[in-house]
Amino acid sequence: MKGVILAGGLGTRLRPLTNITNKHLIPVYNKPMILYPLETLIKSGIRDILIVSGREHAGHFVEFLGSGKEYGVRLTYRVQDEAGGIAQALLLAGDFADRKPVMVILGDNIFEDNFSKYVKSFRKGARIFLKKVPDAKRFGVPVLEGKNVVNILEKPMPPPNDHAVTGIYQYDGDVFKIIKKLRPSDRGELEITDVNNAYIKRRNLKAEIVRGFWSDAGTFDSLARATQWALRQFDKITAGKLKGRPLR
Ligand code: G1P
Repeated sequence: MKGVILAGGLGTRLRPLTNITNKHLIPVYNKPMILYPLETLIKSGIRDILIVSGREHAGHFVEFLGSGKEYGVRLTYRVQDEAGGIAQALLLAGDFADRKPVMVILGDNIFEDNFSKYVKSFRKGARIFLKKVPDAKRFGVPVLEGKNVVNILEKPMPPPNDHAVTGIYQYDGDVFKIIKKLRPSDRGELEITDVNNAYIKRRNLKAEIVRGFWSDAGTFDSLARATQWALRQFDKITAGKLKGRPLR
């Protein structure tokens, strides 16, 4: 399965940082944000990865990540000229995907989980990944009937429950046909939630639960939360390495 990192958008919520570079290159503790989704795909066994970036500072991605050789992956790049939504950015992955399934991750989503079993078991339709959060109104929220997702609402006020649709998705090759039929939402964007709702209508969407840490990092608050988590991970690793050694 190929992977797609969607790193478009203007990053307006992180100004003035995004006047200097692309949102997805801003640090989350000790490394640029995009390394987190990149590592999530790599951990899941994906080696062929497309990065779709916004036009602003697009060259910084190539400067930083190059061909992907250092990470043992093959990177391809595409530029989304104007920010028109997540689904519009995904449409640019059509040729790259070549009608085969893809795992798509948003460039500002930080996951602890390993998704390799889902990469191995994916056949057709779509899969989304849900996580309980305290502030569901900031996200896509599933309408649940038992364990079934019967609809997804984008940033509902008030949210019907406390689950968020996280920014990692699996789609079969039909996703590009679905996006081509979408109309822009009220905020003028092609919404990933509308893509997922199209799969629900076809009775072809499955939902799984994210067990470990998850946060987006696209606002100052969520960036701070993600940074705190990354710091704790770093401390755990360092503590593990120091274990058994006398303290100086
Ligand atoms: C986007 C999606 C939303 C999803 C979220 C995950 O929101 O539209 O459905 O829950 O990513 O990070 P945005 O970050 O564009 O507000």
